[in-house]
Amino acid sequence: MREIASIKQLRSWRAAQRAAGRRVALVPTMGYLHEGHLALVDEARRRADTVALSIFVNPLQFGPNEDLDRYPRDLPRDRALSEGRGVDVLFAPSVETMYPPGAEVRVTAGETAERWEGAARPGHYTGVLTVVAKLFHLLEPDVACFGQKDIQQVTLVRRMLDDLDWPIELAMVPTVRDVDGLALSSRNAYLSPAERAQALALSGGLGAAAAAWRAGERSAPALEALVRASIDAAPGVRAEYIAVVDPQWLRPVPVAAAGTIVALAARVGTTRLIDNVILE
Ligand code: PAJ
Repeated sequence: MREIASIKQLRSWRAAQRAAGRRVALVPTMGYLHEGHLALVDEARRRADTVALSIFVNPLQFGPNEDLDRYPRDLPRDRALSEGRGVDVLFAPSVETMYPPGAEVRVTAGETAERWEGAARPGHYTGVLTVVAKLFHLLEPDVACFGQKDIQQVTLVRRMLDDLDWPIELAMVPTVRDVDGLALSSRNAYLSPAERAQALALSGGLGAAAAAWRAGERSAPALEALVRASIDAAPGVRAEYIAVVDPQWLRPVPVAAAGTIVALAARVGTTRLIDNVILE
């Protein structure tokens, strides 16, 4: 595995890949890698000849009262996990490399970025799209892999590629869960053992909604109520939103159809978690 921190090195590596006719896949992350991230690496491997993984805790996508300073980091461990999973290039730039003093141009989406996560975290998706656009320009991937776990993020990256006529293939990888159902997340590290047990109300509620859908339930309020009941039954867990939405614009729908998404955000103690299912 090669480790690259400078833009100059990255450009010459990219030119060599092109000259050799190799397809490049990019997996953008903020590090503290877990099996969810590594499933993206596996998908990247299937779709390309060379896999690049970026690790950058992007200050631009954190709000002033969010967890930027305490976001978990462990580069030596990430390095070992990446290498073990067959990552070819690790790009771990500094903040100064990504945002030199004076950088002020941003990529901002519209309405779809203002709902749900965007409403709870103003400016979050501008930060995400700006850094993803920069990573796309720096690595010029043929394909980029994102997780379903952050479904609004994938939706907005897809919108950016469409709207800006950007010919990068997007692969969405299903959410990787612990054996008990909890969606893997770097932020699970914040949970106490008791909170971790309570957090199962999230995947439990979504599982109940998916089961009801399979049994024929089509009413969005009924599906939402199932998720809410699961969360309300867990002390110390508070739903921020439970949304039954269409996959393209993430607008609430009254009646679920194939492809409808049930997404939620909840606080477990002080930790904010998100999860979703696609009804199929
Ligand atoms: P991060 O939270 O580190 O996630 C990196 C990628 O891993 C995202 O595409 C995310 O959806 C995916 N991922 C996280 N948990 C997953 C799980 N349990 N199963 C499958 N995929 C999972 O998302 C970001 O970083 C940042 O916003 C980023 C895109 C890197 C821009 O800064």
